[in-house]
Amino acid sequence: MSLLEVEGLRTGYGLLPVLQGLSFSVEEGTTAVLFGLNGAGKTTTVNAIAGLQPVWGGSITFDGQKISGQPATKIVERGVAISLEGRHVFPKLSVRKNLDLGAWTARKTAKQQLDLVFSYFPRLEERLDQMAGTLSGGEQQMLAIGRALMSKPRLLLIDEGSLGLSPKLAQTVFEVVSRINDDGTTVLLVEQNIGVLPYADQALVMEKGTLTFNGSGKELGESGDLRKTYLG
Ligand SMILES: Nc1ncnc2c1ncn2[C@@H]1O[C@H](COP(=O)(O)OP(=O)(O)O)[C@@H](O)[C@H]1O
Ligand SMILES: [Mg+2]
Repeated sequence: MSLLEVEGLRTGYGLLPVLQGLSFSVEEGTTAVLFGLNGAGKTTTVNAIAGLQPVWGGSITFDGQKISGQPATKIVERGVAISLEGRHVFPKLSVRKNLDLGAWTARKTAKQQLDLVFSYFPRLEERLDQMAGTLSGGEQQMLAIGRALMSKPRLLLIDEGSLGLSPKLAQTVFEVVSRINDDGTTVLLVEQNIGVLPYADQALVMEKGTLTFNGSGKELGESGDLRKTYLG
């Protein structure tokens, strides 16, 4: 049994279907990366897993239990957290308050998780009382990931964690994600930056709502498919 199993997932917006029977699974302890151009359906996929997008058909199973159809709050409690696309932080609230809000389903472990977040992102500890809106782009990305970690997830979804960051900062984010994975959290990343490939145990490529590749990161690196997708 895989930690995450997506089976025949269908969803979309209004009457417009985006995913028409998407299936893949992610093994516990691994890092999976979902690649694809803008509009491929990556965000729709991870939002559906997190319960933020209504599921029209098919199923999503986490740790052997069906999570599709459950409210997002229940899914967080089960152990799935998402760092949303666009670094959704609360700009008028302090870093501390932003992190605190991430722990609202997991109060008992909040202190322990806070220390863990500081170990990954020491910068956040230095800026605890600063308003989140005044952080740099990279720091806001760290905060968005840190906030997701506050619920002590077993599966961490990160949607476009490197978007808009310098190559150096993107690399830093990937390295921290790799540490988070080493510490036992399963990770599903949505990325358009192929610099993440060395960290990917599993690679998925999506085009127009369907998977065109599902294999190891190494296989994708050698296949030329990514090159074709991203460089024409
Ligand atoms: N809120 C929305 N309303 C209507 N269509 C949307 C909405 N969000 C995304 N879409 C459409 O769904 C498709 C997939 O989008 P998305 O999942 O955001 O792709 P990606 O994350 O891969 O860029 C696109 O055609 C996009 O235009
Ligand atoms: Mg997206």
